[in-house]
Amino acid sequence: MLARVDTIALDGIRAIPVEIEVDLGRGLPMLNMVGLPDGAVREAKDRVRAALKNSGVQLPARRITINLAPADLPKEGSAYDLPMAVGLLAAMDLLPAEKLRGRLFLGELALDGRLKPVPGCLPAALLARDLGLEELVVPVGNGVEGALAGGRVVAPETLLELLRHLTGEKPLDPVPRTDWLKALTEEEPRGGTMIRDLADVKGQEHARRALEVAAAGGHNLIMSGPPGSGKTLLARCMPGILPALTLEEALEVTAIHSVAGRLEGRSPLLTRRPFRTPHHTSSNVALIGGGGIPRPGEVSLAHRGVLFLDEIPEFGRSALESLREPLEAGDVGISRAARSTRFPAHFQLVAACNPCPCGHLGNPHRQCRCSPIQVERYASRLSGPLLDRIDLHVGVPPVPPETLTELPNGESSAMVRERVTEARLTQMRRNGPGVLNADLDGVPLHRFAALDATSRDLLLMASRKLGFSARTHNRILKVSRTIADLDRAEAIHSGHLAEAIQFRMGGRFPGSG
Ligand SMILES: Nc1ncnc2c1ncn2[C@@H]1O[C@H](COP(=O)(O)OP(=O)(O)OP(=O)(O)O)[C@@H](O)[C@H]1O
Ligand SMILES: [Mg+2]
Repeated sequence: MLARVDTIALDGIRAIPVEIEVDLGRGLPMLNMVGLPDGAVREAKDRVRAALKNSGVQLPARRITINLAPADLPKEGSAYDLPMAVGLLAAMDLLPAEKLRGRLFLGELALDGRLKPVPGCLPAALLARDLGLEELVVPVGNGVEGALAGGRVVAPETLLELLRHLTGEKPLDPVPRTDWLKALTEEEPRGGTMIRDLADVKGQEHARRALEVAAAGGHNLIMSGPPGSGKTLLARCMPGILPALTLEEALEVTAIHSVAGRLEGRSPLLTRRPFRTPHHTSSNVALIGGGGIPRPGEVSLAHRGVLFLDEIPEFGRSALESLREPLEAGDVGISRAARSTRFPAHFQLVAACNPCPCGHLGNPHRQCRCSPIQVERYASRLSGPLLDRIDLHVGVPPVPPETLTELPNGESSAMVRERVTEARLTQMRRNGPGVLNADLDGVPLHRFAALDATSRDLLLMASRKLGFSARTHNRILKVSRTIADLDRAEAIHSGHLAEAIQFRMGGRFPGSG
């Protein structure tokens, strides 16, 4: 008897169809697995055998061959347990083979026959939808996640429950769908202890403006200033001024977190823009991604949101250097053995640092205690090429005592978010769907960020005086475009450009010379 079951393998955040064939043949009783399974897949043998036994099914004393096709695709993890068990049931004639057609199965089995959640259900659900399959079968813990793609999903608790569903003895109700579009638009991008509101920030008008410009155009931002001036506080305001995710973005972000195995419990849609704050002791793999089964790192978990690197000079040099690729490309390549995979990593970098180890270099009210060598060593941790990729460089000076004793009187995050959202809509209309000013390049950049004669002269003068690289030059154009968009101006004028240039010169940065 030969049975066929459809399941998936993951390539980045995409699901690729995989077919599992189960054959019961003559010969010595044994179970053989072929088709590039990894260690965890081989162990499926024991889990499947035990799960079946504890569901009242004894494997026959036959020669069992399980083939995973296509053979050149590596099969990893424990999600093949369920399709293998189902294939065995069909091969043993305990399940009509036609019940497997039009269905996609994935899930891990516990020894007692319960189904355990696995990473990658959303990508699987998107594939099932695109292939027009009738039903996706996933563990109960993945049910809500599976239903995100809009297709029919059943999420049994045990193998026995699934068997009764497939034989028609006791059909399961499909997982109900949630109106996610409604949830997305109604969700306040606040909440969580990490997120702060601009209404609580005193003074720092310049840094507030920089946050708004960064949020509006998707620009990267670095803040430098003495301890306690509010850099961390300001960075934590960023999520609250970003517009809600679109449904498409939310699915993409959720798929990344799904593949990372980070959608625990009922695995609903992630409706908030990610705000990731890795510690400077994080490993390169944690930051960039990788591992035996390649998993997305912080740069991908921050996709369509913010990657906040507080105390950025404390991060390892190689970690910071590896940010250059995703910052430029919007995704990141993970290679291992003969295969390589890419994960989306289109995030906004927000970084904070002190100007020197003691933090008071350039502070008119405090004496810097660092030696020139200490300052230089600190400075060398941030390389020119990294700083070059950060559009907005902002000094955050100490808050004057008279401002501190007053009540905060600036706008709230919600008020700023309105302008940011409007500026982003303007960009989508002009630049194309999903393209922010920070993403512009080549001809579109020069077309949409065209300068008049006065502005051209101004930029030329600044470039000569400050020695801007070609990349810096382009980044200034993009920021000017955003400032003009916030101003609802069709064309960039010299005032917009001047503000963009001074955002490139602000503050004192380790590494900026
Ligand atoms: N501009 C501000 N308005 C209101 N409160 C502020 C401001 N700046 C700092 N504070 C208060 O001081 C605390 C410390 O500020 P924050 O952690 O943001 O400083 P920092 O610039 O990140 O310092 P460090 O360089 O030491 O990391 C904040 O939690 C907040 O309570
Ligand atoms: Mg801080």
